[in-house]
Amino acid sequence: MKQRLLSGIKPSGKIHIGNYFGAMKQFVDLQNEYESFIFIADYHALNQVQDPRVLRDLIFETAKTFLAIGLDPSKTTLYKQSDISNITEFTWILNSITPIALLQRAHAYKDARKNQSRINMGLFDYPVLMSADILICDTDIVPVGQDQVQHVEIAREIARLFNSIYGNTLKLPQERLNNESSCIPGFDGRKMSKSYNNTIGLFDDEKSIRKKVLSIVTDSKTASEPKNPETCSVFAFHKLFSAKQLPELTIRYKNGSISYKESKDILYENIITTLAPIRAKKYELDHNPLEVMKILGQGKERVKEITDAKMKVIREKIGVSI
Ligand code: ADP
Ligand code: TRP
Repeated sequence: MKQRLLSGIKPSGKIHIGNYFGAMKQFVDLQNEYESFIFIADYHALNQVQDPRVLRDLIFETAKTFLAIGLDPSKTTLYKQSDISNITEFTWILNSITPIALLQRAHAYKDARKNQSRINMGLFDYPVLMSADILICDTDIVPVGQDQVQHVEIAREIARLFNSIYGNTLKLPQERLNNESSCIPGFDGRKMSKSYNNTIGLFDDEKSIRKKVLSIVTDSKTASEPKNPETCSVFAFHKLFSAKQLPELTIRYKNGSISYKESKDILYENIITTLAPIRAKKYELDHNPLEVMKILGQGKERVKEITDAKMKVIREKIGVSI
């Protein structure tokens, strides 16, 4: 029996290559090895996106992106969190045993307290909804970026608490970190993030990608000066997009036979080539929304069945089934 893998992405903005290499690509790479469940965490996005038209659009874009990057619905169950009301019901049950102090320790909440004056309950309770997502499916493995590790730890802690009160019911999940791509830089050298406005979107037009690549910050070494690949931001992108040319590029950097301009030109071509099949598949799905709806519908059915069975057990354990 394969172990069960589960992860989700919030539909809170345009998908960029940081999201792709940092989180989404591993879902595709792992779908043969695990029984996979991937979902669009639309209720998690609700404290950020409160324009219904924008949210609808982002949900659909995220679903199409998952399929375009290669999630195969015959191997991975793709669904929308809000389609499964069992998850929000279970969140309430978990809320009733979760100590406030556990949530006050969450990094995301602490950061928000420093930077925002108005914090809603959705933000504070975010880790409990995430715990419900994970625990209701008896998940073994949760592939996430570094920023989400603490949330999986909280899910484990809540599962332990539940089991200690009601007897062994919930499986303890394990996070899985993708170390190679734990921090993809943006074109300004900081972490790529929509909050820094330094992203390269998977579906940005070619002209804007070219402009962004040309604006990657470098030092002012001339073409014939030796350069350090390890400290060069352009080279950091080559590691993602130029695998085959990496040995040659390393030599040319070190012996001073490449200009930053040429390095950027090569990078631009490789980004376009790498993204081409993803963009083509997305274009196809843009013209076939019914196919996307059908896949989400099948995902809903399957997850509903699994979570209905789990909720039956949980309801009995806590004493509300009479
Ligand atoms: P953003 O920082 O643009 O708001 P999110 O917080 O919505 O992105 O990230 C969604 C997922 O993508 C998370 O799991 C996160 O770990 C991953 N991710 C986002 N940006 C990067 C990055 N620059 N490098 C690696 N992973 C990233
Ligand atoms: N919190 C995650 C993020 O911001 C998204 C998410 C919601 C998630 N529920 C999850 C990830 C459950 C893994 C498992 O990226």
